This record gives sequence, structure tokens and C-alpha cells, in this order.
Amino acid sequence: MQGAKKHPASRDMPKTQKILVINGPNLNLLGVREPSLYGKSTYPELVEHIKADAARLKQEVEIRQSNHEGEIVDWIQLARGVFDAIVLNAAAYTHTSVAILDALKAVALPVAEVHLTEPKEREDFRRISYVGMVAEQTFSGHGFLSYTEALEYFARR
Ligand code: DQA
Repeated sequence: MQGAKKHPASRDMPKTQKILVINGPNLNLLGVREPSLYGKSTYPELVEHIKADAARLKQEVEIRQSNHEGEIVDWIQLARGVFDAIVLNAAAYTHTSVAILDALKAVALPVAEVHLTEPKEREDFRRISYVGMVAEQTFSGHGFLSYTEALEYFARR
């Protein structure tokens, strides 16, 4: 009896990483929202930036944005078995959401925390990060490049 043969082209081919990028509340207003802090580039421009990085790094990305904590919890739960990693800018929920922290713990997927700004250099209430309690790495303070750094981190990992 012969064993199953692998197609020669599939042998040793690195698997394409599937990454879920989740953006939290008010990030849809980029470009309009406090441009002195967040810049003038818009949310659709951020999406294009992330897609271009993913293409360069040969990753498959799905990019979502929600203003609703429960929807973000649902997306994290459903990522189990579908995505290899999560890049998460939970925005204000970073500093408040035990529910998002629990969801991340439950699915146990690798997480990179991302912020456009550097929250720790802003108001005191931004110093706590629930996401940071489970994230493998945090990339912050570099605008859109914070997302690039997170995707590059998973590409190297
Ligand atoms: C943010 C920082 C958060 O403190 C803030 O609530 C946001 C955006 C950032 O990307 O810099 O909404 O996550």
C-alpha cells in the first residue's frame, strides 16, 4: 500500500499567515478626529496601508472596525481556528474592557496590541491596558507604522 503523496509544489511551502486586524471605537473617524493627535489620514487610507503591508509580507489580512465592545468580543471568539493571529487596536476599550481581555484569553491566539499614538504619554487613564496584559508585543506611537510593525512581528515570528 502506498502512502499519500504530497504534491511536490506543496511540500515545504510556508503556510500563508491569516491575520485578523480589529480596530475599535472612533477609528472610523480618522482624518476628522483630533487630527493634531491622530493625523489627517483617513480610515480607508489606514486600510489601504495595512493591505499593502500584508501583500508585501505575503500575509492574508481581514480588517474590521467596530464601535461596539460586544461585536469585538464576538469577532475575537470567532477567530479561533480561522486566524493565526490578531492585531488589535482596541482604541478606548484598551483601557476599560475586561470582556475583551477575557475573550483574548479564551481564544489564546497570539495578539499584537497596536496604537497610533503613545497612550502611556497621554492622560493617566490611558496608562492601563487590558489588551497589553495578554499581547505578545505592543507597537505604539508610530501612526500607521505601528500596524506595519505588528504585521512584521508576526511575519518574523
Ligand atoms: C488609540 C489610543 C487610545 O487611548 C484611544 O482611546 C484611541 C486610539 C490609538 O490608536 O492611539 O481611540 O488606541
